[in-house]
Amino acid sequence: MEKIFILGVGPGSPKYVSPLVMEVARSCDLLLGGKRNLEIFAEFPQEKREIGSQIQPLLEFIEANFRTRKTGILVSGDPGLFSLLPVLRRHFQEEVLEVVPGISALQYLFARIKLPWHDAVVLSLHGRREKDLAELVRDNVKVGIFTDHKHTPGMICKLLLEKGIKSRKVYIGENLSYPEEKIYAGSLEDCRELQVEGLNVMVILGGGGERL
Ligand SMILES: C[S@@+](CC[C@H](N)C(=O)[O-])C[C@H]1O[C@@H](n2cnc3c(N)ncnc32)[C@H](O)[C@@H]1O
Repeated sequence: MEKIFILGVGPGSPKYVSPLVMEVARSCDLLLGGKRNLEIFAEFPQEKREIGSQIQPLLEFIEANFRTRKTGILVSGDPGLFSLLPVLRRHFQEEVLEVVPGISALQYLFARIKLPWHDAVVLSLHGRREKDLAELVRDNVKVGIFTDHKHTPGMICKLLLEKGIKSRKVYIGENLSYPEEKIYAGSLEDCRELQVEGLNVMVILGGGGERL
């Protein structure tokens, strides 16, 4: 049976792409992904297609191709965290999907700040009410957040301060694994005016009554 391979390519540097993801990607006839993810495989000769923001044409394209051409879909980080996987599961039968894990940007940040993350709550603010964020930060010792253009680290810190949350330690990882990587650490007050231009994730410590 032909399959659709969903490949987690890690935070961005080819050094963090697993040998298995490399091997499967090399064996595909067709690679689909965002520009940043396709760049990792720039030297590979097979056909590559950039995925845009429209999901329906992408699903139709995969549907029309995967039975005759081995198709790899490149997703950043790990496919289990805020990727195309839920959409693909809704559209295709489970039997045709094959998932190869990758290193998440958040997992990478936890490694860089030398903290375990088995006790972290992980969230993205896409489609989530901001009220939930304050509650989660109030109640949990570690909160890992995937940010976006609307929900920037500065905006998140301001919002938490407005909700009366204090005494938190904040880490922000920008352009993780790339040569221009930066990691900021500080309080909510320190980070509220930070301008973080690149891709970033945040970790907020100190909720749930934990002393810092
Ligand atoms: C759609 S989510 C995908 C998350 C991905 N599946 C993962 O496990 O890392 C995209 C978000 O991941 C984060 N991200 C991805 N690559 C990153 C990097 N190299 N440095 C910092 N954050 C990154 C950013 O918060 C970005 O908005």
